[in-house]
Amino acid sequence: PQRPLTDSFARELTYLRLSITDFCNFRCEYCLPDGYQGRPPEDELTVAEIATLVRGFAQVGTTKVRITGGEPSIRRDVVDIIKTIKQTPGIEMVAMTSNGYKLGKHLASWQAAGLNQINISMDSFEPDVFHKMTGFNMLPQLMADMDELLATTDIKLKINSILMAETAYENLINAIDYIKQRPVTYRFIEFMQTSDNSELFFAQHAQSELITNYLISHGWQPHARGHADGPAIEYSHPNYLGRIGMIAPYAAHFCDSCNRLRVSSQGKVHLCLFDQGNYDIREHLKGDDVEGLINTLHSFMPIKPEYHHLHDANSGMMHNLSMIGG
Ligand code: GTP
Ligand code: 5AD
Ligand code: SF4
Repeated sequence: PQRPLTDSFARELTYLRLSITDFCNFRCEYCLPDGYQGRPPEDELTVAEIATLVRGFAQVGTTKVRITGGEPSIRRDVVDIIKTIKQTPGIEMVAMTSNGYKLGKHLASWQAAGLNQINISMDSFEPDVFHKMTGFNMLPQLMADMDELLATTDIKLKINSILMAETAYENLINAIDYIKQRPVTYRFIEFMQTSDNSELFFAQHAQSELITNYLISHGWQPHARGHADGPAIEYSHPNYLGRIGMIAPYAAHFCDSCNRLRVSSQGKVHLCLFDQGNYDIREHLKGDDVEGLINTLHSFMPIKPEYHHLHDANSGMMHNLSMIGG
């Protein structure tokens, strides 16, 4: 057995976030750099390379893999990718983060391939607002597809929604109503400043307390996070089936419980959400070299950062999330 991946702050890295493409068909302003088209698809990791990658990660302690993008469902071989990851010894959970564009079409095949969890981005309950934000007039269809998922599969559903000053209160009221009878976690994500969204950021950034103060004063109870969970704190209430969650990267100690590494669609390791991805492991993947991959991953442990630099003055230099999938 191999030594598990643990960084110099004694954080065990059990959660791999794998971007399989950085192309996205949506055009959300806060996420996508203006005019960005994604890197060439011929450079994306192949299914065989992904198989090697996940075998290596699993041998050093990864139990959960989340497929991200861009928009991961754009790839024609996404079902093969889910299957390949799911069949890797040691992997207990395969998850995906998606804009939901292809949810209805692929639901049955994703379930059959072994997908355990899906996080869908839905920034508004208003069809017109959704249309304006994403460029797609498909909110009613998306909501119908999510209900279909709940009725016909055992895939766990979460909704991601960006926390913006303008929409926060309306989204909160709608979300509370939405989860009353649905076993869904609706999560707000604090708006992060990235490379070219500064104008919107300064106009719309709101602190997580805007939501959490409301929840606490209305009888919602926070829960401790599980070992393999992402960074959200979830709140529940006895009268509601679902939960409301908060991802608050600007909060103190957010990174203390970091359990994840990221790999880009080009085979670069990102040691933190906001690093530049300068750590290439593609050579090991091309050569099906699991031993070499494991040694290289261990060599990164001393340099995984303790926390992000969202609070720094130069945080505006950070790349947009569409390029690495959050
Ligand atoms: P689960 O808890 O497994 O459901 O997933 P998750 O919340 O880790 O995954 P998801 O892809 O839904 O993440 C939602 C968003 O949370 C991301 O797009 C990021 O905006 C944010 N996020 C996730 N992980 C990190 C992290 O390590 N650092 C920061 N700053 N933000 C993160
Ligand atoms: N700040 C916070 N969340 C963001 N996302 C994309 N860009 C940002 C940002 N700058 C979110 C999307 C999606 C998730 C994968 O990341 O809304 O829900
Ligand atoms: Fe880990 Fe970086 Fe995310 Fe912090 S911002 S939780 S250090 S990946």
